[in-house]
Amino acid sequence: MSQHASGSSIESVLHETRKFPPAAGFSKSAHMGSMEQYRREYERSIRDPEGFWGEVAGELDWFTKWAKVLDWKAPDAKWFVGGKTNICHNCVDRQVEAGFGAEPAIIWEGEPTGSGGPEVRRISYADLKRDVSRMANVLRSLGVGKGDIVTIYMPMVPELAVAMLACARIGAPHSIIFGGFSAQAIADRVVDAGSRVIITADGGWRRGQIVPLKENVDAACTQTDLIDHVIVLERTGQQIAWHHAPSPANGSKRDHWWHDLVQAASDECACEPMDAEDLLFVLYTSGTTGKPKGIMHTTGGYMVHTYLTSKITFDLHPGIGQVYWCTADIGWITGHSYIVYGVLPNRVPTVMYEGAPNWPGADRFWDIVERHKVTQFYTAPTAIRAFMKWGDEHPKKHDLSSLRVLGTVGEPINPEAWMWYHKVIGGEKCPIVDTWWQTETGGHMITPLPGCTATKPGSCTLPFFGVDAAIVDEQGNERGPNEGGLLAIRKPWPSMLRGILGDRERFIATYWSDIVTKDGTRYYKAGDGARRDEDGYFWVMGRIDDVINVSGHRLGTMEVESALVSHDAVVEAAVVGMPHEIKGTGIAAFCTLAPGFAADDALREALRKHVAGEIGAIAKPDMIRFTDALPKTRSGKIMRRLLRDIAEGKEQAGDTTTLEDLSVLAKLRESKES
Ligand code: WTA
Repeated sequence: MSQHASGSSIESVLHETRKFPPAAGFSKSAHMGSMEQYRREYERSIRDPEGFWGEVAGELDWFTKWAKVLDWKAPDAKWFVGGKTNICHNCVDRQVEAGFGAEPAIIWEGEPTGSGGPEVRRISYADLKRDVSRMANVLRSLGVGKGDIVTIYMPMVPELAVAMLACARIGAPHSIIFGGFSAQAIADRVVDAGSRVIITADGGWRRGQIVPLKENVDAACTQTDLIDHVIVLERTGQQIAWHHAPSPANGSKRDHWWHDLVQAASDECACEPMDAEDLLFVLYTSGTTGKPKGIMHTTGGYMVHTYLTSKITFDLHPGIGQVYWCTADIGWITGHSYIVYGVLPNRVPTVMYEGAPNWPGADRFWDIVERHKVTQFYTAPTAIRAFMKWGDEHPKKHDLSSLRVLGTVGEPINPEAWMWYHKVIGGEKCPIVDTWWQTETGGHMITPLPGCTATKPGSCTLPFFGVDAAIVDEQGNERGPNEGGLLAIRKPWPSMLRGILGDRERFIATYWSDIVTKDGTRYYKAGDGARRDEDGYFWVMGRIDDVINVSGHRLGTMEVESALVSHDAVVEAAVVGMPHEIKGTGIAAFCTLAPGFAADDALREALRKHVAGEIGAIAKPDMIRFTDALPKTRSGKIMRRLLRDIAEGKEQAGDTTTLEDLSVLAKLRESKES
């Protein structure tokens, strides 16, 4: 089980005994005003999930009401059976129809600051409806129909939200690829999804540099002839290549400017009535094999779960001037659920920021909080650790008094970072919601609720409504207080994944096969190790599989290994996580080399570049060690624990430029342990 970077167990023990009561004065107005209310509603949501979720779903619009709330035959759930709705309608049209068309839906800020300050756009629900309808009509005119998967590879600009909502409007599932992924990663995902249309931009701004998005799409298109149309948003104005290749579909050009297409499009477009179980999107995430899996989410359950969690976890209230900001990229599940789909139906403006947290200065986030009077702020522990390191003077320059709720997600938060967030950012008055969930769960699963849950730094506390979370062994027996075990979910929840695109077997094998009770009941295996303390609070320790969590981003060690061995110099590679001050977990790679390649820094740099090209910059190893053989047991298994110890510096020192003989260490270790 991988330990998170917070490491120091004495620190953790000290902090564990500290409990922070729900912020004074908060409870009166909060959705969840007391622990009694939480317990009552939680108990009901577990006893009568259909009654509970049916009521929540009733807060949103449906074209046809469902006949049955839940149909469950493990591992297949159908929520709101027979119901017809459209999530774009609930995000956008519903607000316009209710008379709130002029209110801000999205507050966007670009990265470049220039002399006049940053570019800010306020997009009202009415603007959004017009822009989304136009893009929806554009997609239809290019032949995209219900069920056709559209790939989106864009910077954090409002048009990214417009593109995804346009897909949802016409029932075309989207597959959004984070802008940091490489051409190879785009090609793999396009092929897996059978996608014929890509929406991208000429580039995006990140730390003052242009990310060459269109160039990456062009390179991806050389690897597959699936793509008929590339829609290009002009963002940076930089020079890009233009492709006029005739499309096999209708003889039109391959590349189209976004602005040309929307200019010609009508701004009337009815929402496609979607079955509650129709596919809403696919989002690729890393698993234990080299191949990312396309996690499938459907319409109704995802909509209801993300709507309710946004509302309750962040305590969103429309019409009282709240401004919500989640700093994630929409390319990850956090951005899907908690920038767009869960937030817009709550009618609280969602802030989108294009760029880096430290551009042009290390106070950029706090500057944004101050200028937009952000009330809810949601970020990742890795960002908090970076801010801690950059120094208190940056947040202290700004008035952060608008903040009411702080959130974290993506990895366990170390108590030191929690305390800093609480004191320096929250002024000791804001509840911190440490939300545990996954791409697969679609929405929050275990989290404190502001105004209600007493928090403990480092614990994600208690399950959300309807979530039957438990720490179990492989037979599904519950572990006792503070005994470690597998984090499992025993009952279906509305936003649960419905499968892995095109791979039913992998879906069952990954999530539904390892925890089976004596009577044959299957539990959902999250892949995290965790424990519950004497108060029933959950403490997530980290992944128990070969997935590592780098700056809150999931990477499969096998993915990085495959990328390394695809380089001519590398014969065999083993990748493990290692503690990293900012990233939480860094990437350590051990490689054996083909004859004729020198084990030197030039090769290290070449390999880092190569991995960035195969996957993306986030997958670049932090440390590469060359060895003449990987340490293996007598039965030929790579001794990962030994490699982790070496990466942590427990055995031998530093990045050496010569070949090491790790097999000697392996033999030593084996003789010690047997
Ligand atoms: C980890 C991100 C501890 C966990 C929403 C999980 C967390 C993986 C937390 C999912 C948290 C996420 N505390 N660990 N609050 N939130 N994780 O799919 O290991 O990118 O399995 O979803 O991140 O990562 P994913």
